[in-house]
Amino acid sequence: MRVVVLTGAGISAESGVPTFRDANGLWEGHRVEEVATPAAFETQPTTVQRFYDARRRALHAVVPNAGHLALAALERAFGKRLLLVTQNIDDLHERAGSSHVVHMHGELFSALCRACGERSRWEQDLVDRPACPACGASELRPDVVWFGELPYEMDRIHRALTRADLFVSIGTSGAVYPAAGFVRAAAASGARTLELNLQRSDGTDWFHDARHGPASRLVPAWVKELL
Ligand code: APR
Repeated sequence: MRVVVLTGAGISAESGVPTFRDANGLWEGHRVEEVATPAAFETQPTTVQRFYDARRRALHAVVPNAGHLALAALERAFGKRLLLVTQNIDDLHERAGSSHVVHMHGELFSALCRACGERSRWEQDLVDRPACPACGASELRPDVVWFGELPYEMDRIHRALTRADLFVSIGTSGAVYPAAGFVRAAAASGARTLELNLQRSDGTDWFHDARHGPASRLVPAWVKELL
């Protein structure tokens, strides 16, 4: 059986990483749609860098929860028959033990050089324009996919969706494409589809099955069933 799992901010919520569209949906007083754009980076680079520096720093203070750990256990059992795709830019899946994670929106702990195009692992601030480890230019930006930019590894994700027997969406509001369309691509290819989310999402009606509650409870229960 081939499984594709898509995770969103909801799986990291119980680790203390705020989601985007719950409560006030504000980050450091900014709406993510206003800061996570190429235009914002051009016009107010310091604001955008500080927004991501704050989120990068916050990552050092949080730990994976039972939802992340259950998905790592699923990978140990399923190996390459599982593709874990995340919209999250935190490294909680990796710290929980998942080793093949597709970060379709990029990663906070990666910096992209606008001069040479190289990516470097980066855990410090970027606001002071440090030199690129590869070329020395002071042109590092967060290696994060902003609104209007192409998400990463879309071909690989679509291939997996067409071959999946089961597609499970965890902790995402189904508000942002292309991730919000994955359930339909999977179902069109004959996969069963399941939503695990705190509450109904914009996409709930597209799923064959839906269970609502906290990921730290729902994900371990579902993985236990599957194993
Ligand atoms: N357990 C399970 N689900 C939860 C929990 C929890 N403890 N807490 C919140 N949720 C659910 C919410 O009900 C919501 O449906 O997680 C979802 C979070 O939705 P968003 O905040 O919109 O996050 P996400 O869907 O990941 O956003 C997608 O939008 O801002 C862009 O690039 C950003 O990757 C992000 C994308």
